[in-house]
Amino acid sequence: MPRQLFVTTALPYANGSFHIGHIMEYIQADIWVRFQRMQGHTVHFVCADDAHGAPIMLKAEAEGIKPETLVARIGAERARYLEGFHIAFDNWHSTHSAENTQLAQDIYRKLDAAGLIDRRTIEQYFDPVKSMFLADRYIKGECPNCGAKDQFGDNCEVCGAVYSPTDLKNPYSTLSGAPPVLKSSEHFFFRLSDARCVAFLKEWALGERLQGQVANKAREWLEGTGDKALGDWDISRDAPYFGIEIPGAPGKYFYVWLDAPIGYLASFKNYCRKKGIDFEAFLADPHSEQIHFIGKDIIYFHTLFWPAMLKFAGYKVPDRVYVHGFITVSGEKMSKSRGTGISPLRYLDIGMNPEWLRYYIAAKLNANVEDVDFNPDDFIARVNSDLVGKYVNIASRASKFLPEGRLVASEFGRNERTGDLLKAVQSHYEAREFGKAVRDIMAYADDANRKFDLAAPWQLVKEGKAERASEVATEAIEAFRAITACLKPILPDLAMRAERFLDCATLTFDSAALPLGPGHRIGAYEHLMTRVDAKHLDALFDMPEPSKAPPTQPAVAAAAPPAPAPASASASATIGIDDFMKVDLRVARIVDAGPVEGADKLVRLTLDIGEAKPRNVFAGIKAAYDPAQLVGRLTVMVANLAPRKMKFGLSEGMVLAASAPDGAASGIYLLAPDSGAVPGMRVK
Ligand code: 2FM
Ligand code: ZN
Repeated sequence: MPRQLFVTTALPYANGSFHIGHIMEYIQADIWVRFQRMQGHTVHFVCADDAHGAPIMLKAEAEGIKPETLVARIGAERARYLEGFHIAFDNWHSTHSAENTQLAQDIYRKLDAAGLIDRRTIEQYFDPVKSMFLADRYIKGECPNCGAKDQFGDNCEVCGAVYSPTDLKNPYSTLSGAPPVLKSSEHFFFRLSDARCVAFLKEWALGERLQGQVANKAREWLEGTGDKALGDWDISRDAPYFGIEIPGAPGKYFYVWLDAPIGYLASFKNYCRKKGIDFEAFLADPHSEQIHFIGKDIIYFHTLFWPAMLKFAGYKVPDRVYVHGFITVSGEKMSKSRGTGISPLRYLDIGMNPEWLRYYIAAKLNANVEDVDFNPDDFIARVNSDLVGKYVNIASRASKFLPEGRLVASEFGRNERTGDLLKAVQSHYEAREFGKAVRDIMAYADDANRKFDLAAPWQLVKEGKAERASEVATEAIEAFRAITACLKPILPDLAMRAERFLDCATLTFDSAALPLGPGHRIGAYEHLMTRVDAKHLDALFDMPEPSKAPPTQPAVAAAAPPAPAPASASASATIGIDDFMKVDLRVARIVDAGPVEGADKLVRLTLDIGEAKPRNVFAGIKAAYDPAQLVGRLTVMVANLAPRKMKFGLSEGMVLAASAPDGAASGIYLLAPDSGAVPGMRVK
């Protein structure tokens, strides 16, 4: 019986470009979806921009544009990435849409009617300059425990104390620098602690729905007592806020996390309308399956709030939530907002094959919530030895022994090996054990190559046994075809070209079990995949070679260009304000500074620009500054410079300094804002 699947990936925030973490999740889901389609199932695979919330509103404001304009700009660049990595969503929509407004308001009304919405007056910090309530991340002050300065509103990064923003000493708003005032306001709460919700979720989290690890986590939350007990959820935010208005409550908006997952349904509904599919009927059909692929950082929202909201508003509840770990690069964790040293666009722009990455990620993925590490050497080895050396090679070697591409009678299909492979690989795909699928496929490819080598068709030809050589080659081509079917969800483009070369119908697991048979003619072999070169990886990480690029280059703007122009010359071409506004300059506080071992010119700076985590920047200012004297100073940094992987670690931006054309000889002068500026303020 064909399945009817509605599959989603987490909706990315619309204030930034995709990073490699997004791409990994989409590749995982896309492989699974392509596999399901190969099995003849119907899949609706959708995603959307998560458009709402304070960070997007503030970012747009800082750029002097409307949030809608920002969302549209980010939305417009999505296709390049998705097409580039062969990620085939059926629909891409936005949470800032008519469908989402209608669905969110409907769900809210139904929850309210079910007695699950509470109204309570709460006191919260308010920025009198910006006239807005402040989320914890926009409040800083001195730690109530150890007195460390500039600590966030929820915990101290120096002593680890956990507290609430009102406990901070000398608090200030990171948006305006002003001391916040306490103000009361009515908020709306979803009563997650209601016995009906808890009972439903306990049952929902049982069985096959969740991975073991995830189910345990959910149960732990559901069974918490005392201060660990499940709390109600504050779902409202006061104006100014970029979001969906709460019906009957002017000036109140849904918190972004309320309407974000509803965006899954909004995108699907939008798709259904375009395709003439009955949205309501699909969701009402007990055979339909709703499946969400997400990262491990958003389990709470997807295993508690989301199913409970749906259940008590009378909607279909998720059938599966598939959680994956993070992607690390050479063991280094990445920042959620800034990504890692791997830029997906750079990957494509320098001509790296997207299917190399799809294969590498697949080879490393399993069904558990484990991190996946991108290791450059491992990447090169796997792509070259598996894909090129084992798989593609079979076709290129075998085709030489088939006059006019004509297959002959062979043993293929009469052994159980191929049938076993196809069966095992199908069950691995279904279970999202892609690594196991790849392992089995490559073991089969090894066998095929070994058989070919042992039979040595080149020798047979010399001995005048050309017909026997064709038999060996036919076997190899049939094996190549079975492997192609197995790799098709991972390598859709290569599989398509291989099908053309084989001149066979679109491969499925069923069709691959049957041989093409004697008399079938395959096409002329054309190279199917090139090898990855270490130079690609160097270019991807943009490792500066010390002789060519001075280490100051990534870190200090003014000290970098070695151009021999006179100091007074204004040699640069004119730019428009739009170009200038692309550079996100921020006031930064140097919270730590130190020498860099093995680098004479560099200083390692830890910079606070009002984000959850400070930035690490390597600056070529050692000649002019003693690191110890820099701690506590304010300066200006370029906050949106692509992170750059250096020998010493990741440099996440650049500080601004002035220098004469002779470089450091006449001194390097770090810029500093006037007093009153606070970390995070935009410089423009
Ligand atoms: O964590 C995030 O990036 C969120 N934008 C994910 C939202 S997933 C869903 F709920 F929309
Ligand atoms: Zn502290």
